[in-house]
Amino acid sequence: MFHVKQGKPINLIAIDGPGGVGKSSVSHALAERLGYYFLSSGMIYRAMAWYMLHNAQPRWSPQDEPNLAALDPFHVRIDASGSLWINDAPMADGLHTEENSKAASLISAYPDVRERADQVQRDTVRRIEEEQSYSGVILEGRDIGTVVFPAATHKFFLTASEEVRAERRFKEQQADDPALTLAAVREALRERDGRDESRDVAPLKAAPDAEVIDTSQLSQEQVVNRMWAKVSGAASP
Ligand code: DC
Repeated sequence: MFHVKQGKPINLIAIDGPGGVGKSSVSHALAERLGYYFLSSGMIYRAMAWYMLHNAQPRWSPQDEPNLAALDPFHVRIDASGSLWINDAPMADGLHTEENSKAASLISAYPDVRERADQVQRDTVRRIEEEQSYSGVILEGRDIGTVVFPAATHKFFLTASEEVRAERRFKEQQADDPALTLAAVREALRERDGRDESRDVAPLKAAPDAEVIDTSQLSQEQVVNRMWAKVSGAASP
C-alpha cells in the first residue's frame, strides 16, 4: 500500500522502461483491468515541451536551455479518461510529433523541469488519495520506481530489443506519417534512449526492487497477465 498524506492508502504501481517498449499500452490495459487511474508521466514532459515551443517569448528552440519562466502560467491536468488539458484547454494532438518528442527528451534532462513534472505527478496521486476516487494508480515513465515514488507498492521495468521497439514505434506512427522509415524511427529512438539513460538527473534505469520483464517475445496480453498475476497475487493465466 502507498500512503501520500491522508485518507486510506492506495496502491501505486510504477512501470518504467525505454521508448517503444509498450509501456503505455500495457499500463492502460492493466489500469482498466484493475479499475485503477492511469497516469503517463511522459505526457507531462511532452506537454511542457509543447507549451515552451508554442508560447515562450522570446522564441525557444529545443537546443536552448529550457525557459522555465515561460512555464509560469502552464498548468497541466490529465483527466480520468487520459485526456490532457493545458491551462484548461483540451490538447488534441501535436505531442507525438518528432519535433516535440525530441524537445521533451531534451528538456527532461534539466532538474528544474523534472521537479515541476514530479510535482504534477505527486499532486495527482495526492488528489486521488484524498478523494478516494480510485483504489490505485498506475504511473508510467522512466524514473517512477527510482525517484518519483520509490515506495511504490509494485515496480516493473519493461525492456525489449532495440529492433522490436523500433518496429512497435514504427507501426504506431506509420499512419500519421506515411513518409516515415523504420531506419529513421530506430535512429531517433536510439538517440533519445541514449540521452534518457545518460543524463545526470533521474536517468532511465531499473529500480533494484523492480521486476524486469523482457517483452521482446511477449504479446501485450501476456505482459499484462504477468503483471496482473504479481499485483493480484493470482497465478498467471
Ligand atoms: O514516455 P514518453 O516517450 O512519452 O516520454 C517522452 C520523454 O519524456 C522521454 O524521452 C523522456 C521523458 N521522460 C522522463 O524523462 N521521465 C519520465 N518519467 C517520463 C518521460
